[in-house]
Amino acid sequence: MLLEGCRKTDVQKGRPLAFNVPAGFPQPVYNFQQNPTTEEGFLLGKKLFYDGRLSKDGNFACGSCHQQVAAFTTFDHDRSHGYNHAHTLRNAPALSNLAWYPAFRQDGSAASLESVALAHILASDEMAESIPSIVQKLKQDATYKKMFRETYGSESITPDKILNALTQFLVHMVSTDSKYDQVKIGTVAFTAQEQNGYALFQSKCASCHTEPLFTDFSYRNTGLPIDAQLKDYGRMRVTGNKADSLKFRVPSLRNLDYSSYYAHDGRFSVFRMMIQHYRSGVIQSPSLDPLLINGIPMTMAEENDLVVFLRTLSDPTYINNSRFAE
Ligand code: HEC
Ligand code: HEC
Repeated sequence: MLLEGCRKTDVQKGRPLAFNVPAGFPQPVYNFQQNPTTEEGFLLGKKLFYDGRLSKDGNFACGSCHQQVAAFTTFDHDRSHGYNHAHTLRNAPALSNLAWYPAFRQDGSAASLESVALAHILASDEMAESIPSIVQKLKQDATYKKMFRETYGSESITPDKILNALTQFLVHMVSTDSKYDQVKIGTVAFTAQEQNGYALFQSKCASCHTEPLFTDFSYRNTGLPIDAQLKDYGRMRVTGNKADSLKFRVPSLRNLDYSSYYAHDGRFSVFRMMIQHYRSGVIQSPSLDPLLINGIPMTMAEENDLVVFLRTLSDPTYINNSRFAE
């Protein structure tokens, strides 16, 4: 049954899907009043997310690079593989809690989820498709006609609706059931080693990887040497400002242990290597973050405690949740 008339816009139909802000989280950035979400919109967005027809040769659904088993990054790839055996410039970030993101991509080049999705569809090394061609393909499918009608009140398939439905799915991908979250609400306790790691994290890492999202969404140069082939200057590609050279968005560390390959280009195969970089690999340069001028000194025992704490950010409920599964 369709419940009509509940939406502010007369375009959207369907059953309103509430977004519950988890305890201890700030208000989301995504405006659910202006851009309401519905159960039908979420399900349509999920179908589109897993549909290879959004790519030129049928092989590169969003979900081919963003795999649930790896917290929606690509399991076992440093840089993702796209159309015609191409490699993307960067490692795919794990996806969760996107409703709180003020901007997207590791250089902040996308202002909205709609624009990330569109850029992926058009990019020749990713999905390499065009919107008119996708519309043509989806129109042949009676299930889509029905789902577009249930979501938007008419069968017509338009670019705006495709991108809006994908966004409705993406903003509901919330991960807040890690051991860390359970400790915060008091249902379980950290072990002594996790607690040590947490204390270290708060003193050495949290100024950038700020709780509860584990990022402050700023762009920083962590002193990683530039890859001579990729020549990725990060944020400077967007602003053209030399001061932004080699700056990348602080990534969330949620589900770190499930995701694979680390740093913007996936140069590290295990996340511990990033900590070892902070300890002894930081390269000096004019845009290096002032907090990292001396690296982050710590003992081997402290490194181990930090690793153990970071594993408490894994949320098995999220990667096993059938709501998000293909
Ligand atoms: C070929 C692999 C590939 C495909 C297919 C792909 N992505 Fe991505 N995705 C990536 C990579 C790589 C990045 C990182 C881009 C960057 O940081 O510049 C990314 C970034 C993103 C982000 C931004 C995350 C953040 O932390 O800012 C979102 C959201 C996203 N993708 C959603 C999608 C959706 C929706 C689709 C389908 C329309 C899709 N992706 C298809 C590889 C892929
Ligand atoms: C000055 C800000 C800052 C501090 C302090 C900091 N980080 Fe980071 N961290 C970053 C940025 C920026 C990146 C992204 C680097 C890149 O992609 O090139 C990052 C990346 C990472 C990654 C890789 C994550 C991924 O998914 O690729 C890990 C793990 C990490 N940091 C852990 C830590 C830990 C643990 C500490 C404390 C010991 C710490 N960070 C301190 C800014 C910081």
